[in-house]
Amino acid sequence: MDTKVGIDKLSVYLPHFYLEMDELAKARGAEVEKYTIGIGQNKMAVPTIQEDIIALGANAASLILDDEDKTTIDQVIFATESSFDFSKAASTYIHELLEIQPFAKSFEVKEACYAATAALQMACDYVRLRPDRKVLVISADESRYGLGTAGEPTQGAGAIAMLISANPQIFAIDMDSISITDNQFDFWRPSYSEFAMVEGSFSTELYQDIFKRVMSQLEETDPEKLSQIKAMTFHLPFTKMGRKALSSYESQEKSVFTKEDKTELLKQWNGHFENSARLNREVGNIYTGSLFLSFLSLLLFSEDIQSGDKVGLFSYGSGAVAELLTGTIQEHYLTALKKESVIQQFNQREAITIDQYEQFYNELLPADDKKHIIADSTKEEGFYLSEVDAHRRYYKYRN
Ligand code: HMG
Repeated sequence: MDTKVGIDKLSVYLPHFYLEMDELAKARGAEVEKYTIGIGQNKMAVPTIQEDIIALGANAASLILDDEDKTTIDQVIFATESSFDFSKAASTYIHELLEIQPFAKSFEVKEACYAATAALQMACDYVRLRPDRKVLVISADESRYGLGTAGEPTQGAGAIAMLISANPQIFAIDMDSISITDNQFDFWRPSYSEFAMVEGSFSTELYQDIFKRVMSQLEETDPEKLSQIKAMTFHLPFTKMGRKALSSYESQEKSVFTKEDKTELLKQWNGHFENSARLNREVGNIYTGSLFLSFLSLLLFSEDIQSGDKVGLFSYGSGAVAELLTGTIQEHYLTALKKESVIQQFNQREAITIDQYEQFYNELLPADDKKHIIADSTKEEGFYLSEVDAHRRYYKYRN
């Protein structure tokens, strides 16, 4: 039998501060229900300048790696669309901060919110050929549309770290998947722009259209596998997006399934959806990690999910590339996921006012060649950006 390969460990790390959606709604003259029901978000994670993608990513990874992992990791792959350097990969910092063995390779991948899935698939293929080795996949992003824009209530920030190995504790990933590319301008960020450009309503339509195309392809190529998927998780730029995708597939008439069978399948998926969106509701869009945050949420909160169940992960990145992964939940997933510490991290965050949010938002790193010590924004334990000197970023660990 083939060796199982997939997610052995998985963690999330969030900025310390968040903004309540009612605070944002009040400030922008919007009805709070538009944000909490219409878009489906309760809180938005707000990073400070010290919590850049390296700090977020290093903190996520440090929650899962032990000394043995550090000697067996051969690749550190960083997926992001919030990179601050066009040449040096974010994973080179992570490799040093986490003391990964020196003969590992480190690189960065990009394709909007799809990137972490590309990284995960590369990692799985690598481990399938070398089952005694491991790959660390990190996704970290800060989603920024600009103050007062339509996209603002869908912002967020955070990191997900995944350790990929043979015989994983959490999730064994099937080798076959369905991918699709469709060159579109739904959301993109030219290198000269600090903020993403977005065609808001077109982007939500394209997402649904691509989900339906992927589902039709799976119906045609492997309907049996599709019918075995107990829960479907989604890239969630905002939680309502997942509901929209589910109903778009529901209303697609052409299907290889009978009406009754498709209704039964979708009843199961809809039943799991709210639990798979619980963590995302409290954070916002963390771009390439959002799908895996939703996957974590499903595994932690859906009581009706158990080892042996097949789960689908629909990854969508604007531009656009999507992929539907499937896999099987493994026996020790709950022990490996450390539910209590995830909940504790979410609960220890601090709410900020709209003025504090705008102040953090507008703070940019100096772009000159002088030495700048970055003032502490929190007292939280972990890695943080401590200084910039001659355009070089330096990090420290706070106990
Ligand atoms: P908007 O135009 O301000 O909102 O922008 P709207 O008018 O479309 O309203 C949103 C929903 O709230 C609607 O529900 C309203 O009816 C409802 P829907 O018709 O969609 O079901 N609503 C209310 N509900 C209850 N009570 C009320 C109320 N008022 C209104 N009082 C939009 C919304 C999402 C377009 C905007 O925030 C945006 O542009 N966001 C960013 C783009 C985005 O997230 N696109 C998603 C697909 S693309 C993607 O996922 C990729 C991405 O993650 C990037 C990447 O890949 O890197 C973004």
